[in-house]
Amino acid sequence: MSNVLEVVGIEKRYPGVVANKDVSIQIEAGTIHAIIGENGAGKSTLMKTLYGLIKPDAGQIKVFGSEVNLKSPQDAIALGIGMVHQHFKLADNATVLENVILGSEPTRFGFVVKFDEARKKLVEIAENYGLDIDPDEPLSNLGVGERQRVEIAKVLFRGAKILILDEPTAVLVPQEVDELFANLRELVKKGLTVIFISHKLDEVLSIADDITIMRQGTTVATRKPNKTNKKELAELMVGGELPKPKAGELKVSPESILSIKSASYFRADGRQILDDVNLELHGGEIIGLAGVEGNGQSELIELIMGLIQPATGSVEVLGLNAATTLTRDIRNAGVAYIPQDRQRDGLLMTAPLWENRILGHQFAEPMAKSIWVNKGAAIADSKRVVSEFDVRTPGINVLASALSGGNQQKFIVGRELTGDPKLIVAAQPTRGVDVGAQAIIWEHLMQARSKGAGILLISADLEELFSLSDRIAVIYSGKIVSILNPTKTTPEDLGLAMTGAQSA
Ligand SMILES: Nc1ncnc2c1ncn2[C@@H]1O[C@H](COP(=O)(O)OP(=O)(O)OP(=O)(O)O)[C@@H](O)[C@H]1O
Ligand SMILES: [Mg+2]
Repeated sequence: MSNVLEVVGIEKRYPGVVANKDVSIQIEAGTIHAIIGENGAGKSTLMKTLYGLIKPDAGQIKVFGSEVNLKSPQDAIALGIGMVHQHFKLADNATVLENVILGSEPTRFGFVVKFDEARKKLVEIAENYGLDIDPDEPLSNLGVGERQRVEIAKVLFRGAKILILDEPTAVLVPQEVDELFANLRELVKKGLTVIFISHKLDEVLSIADDITIMRQGTTVATRKPNKTNKKELAELMVGGELPKPKAGELKVSPESILSIKSASYFRADGRQILDDVNLELHGGEIIGLAGVEGNGQSELIELIMGLIQPATGSVEVLGLNAATTLTRDIRNAGVAYIPQDRQRDGLLMTAPLWENRILGHQFAEPMAKSIWVNKGAAIADSKRVVSEFDVRTPGINVLASALSGGNQQKFIVGRELTGDPKLIVAAQPTRGVDVGAQAIIWEHLMQARSKGAGILLISADLEELFSLSDRIAVIYSGKIVSILNPTKTTPEDLGLAMTGAQSA
């Protein structure tokens, strides 16, 4: 079989960091090629290089046999290379068709886009590759899995023959992952080639034709899934054995940490987002909140953090009425908050790490010293977080944006778990982190529970919900539709409840 893409000796350096070095990889036509590796191993850097977003310092890229010089994504697209970004770049106020043609409008004539032609082409693509999308559906009606299909259609619309997906499954529930994989299989059957990054080894073993492992910037091995296993892959990634989290003993205290009673919430346009939500969290327990994104989780978190007020009902956090308490006073009372969108709410991307250590903690000791920020404490504690949570960074003076996605996440988790919080609101705490870092974060959450903290774990990762939760509350369409005992429920049942197929 022939190689559609060949990379030889790619190198990319940043100040103090070798992001890619001796990266060599061969991608066969019509295959699904997975790339795995620890956080910061250089996966995204390689993908951005292949898409023309980053210019490597050395090395060659060959596409369909000839050496190319990619100066921009336009060059990559012209060569048939398309990329689906992890953070979707779609417009909510437009239809599927409009989103697909956005930026590549077919021949305009006096500013009139040839919509009919474009629609025909999109319908053809959807049929040909078995992508279930409706061109006229407003994007705002679509869930995450559907949005991803639109992104894929968009790339195919531009004539991509090689598709790059950076952590496409991180945001999907299991049923959506199955659909995505069915789509990818269809694409390769038709001769396209897929390159995708994932931290989930089971997934990679089930879908990939080839698996390339990266470690510390370098490609260390390529394996066929039927000739390897999870253990070997994990060892190739970390160069050793994985840590195993220890489960602590369950000691639920009578103390109410969080008490939500009949809370409802309406959006400005009148749409009901939360409907009669009741939830009681005690010290020493972890409640998992399962649900497909967009079913009211964000608003529930905002209620708890005092960012919005309930229309009816009440929210009590550590004895405080969240509706009438300032967010900073809620935090100061002992609430840790790990936000789901780390780049938007968790970090100042253009500030150094030590300044990010202060973020959200600027009003209380030790980060505050009377009315001033305590820079010395921030610097010292940043170093502690970096070492305790294994944040891979050349130092604490680099900008947050220079860290890989998973390392940004580890830093936020480390910051928030500092100082024995009583309530931890953890939204997707291990999204995008590698298996080793996941074990570290799980361990810290379990330790916090043993010390008496109450934890509300909002997660789309079923393995995480099952591994950590004492009870799992399922939210669907703004309602808690069931409360499950993880030892008596299967992942399939939970997945079904999350998609509203049944209220288990
Ligand atoms: N713009 C940048 N400036 C400085 N360093 C960077 C920049 N982008 C990436 N790096 C560094 O390059 C290394 C590789 O990062 P990359 O994003 O490729 O990792 P990754 O394998 O995709 O990790 P993750 O699984 O966390 O997404 C990291 O050490 C990161 O800190
Ligand atoms: Mg990455």
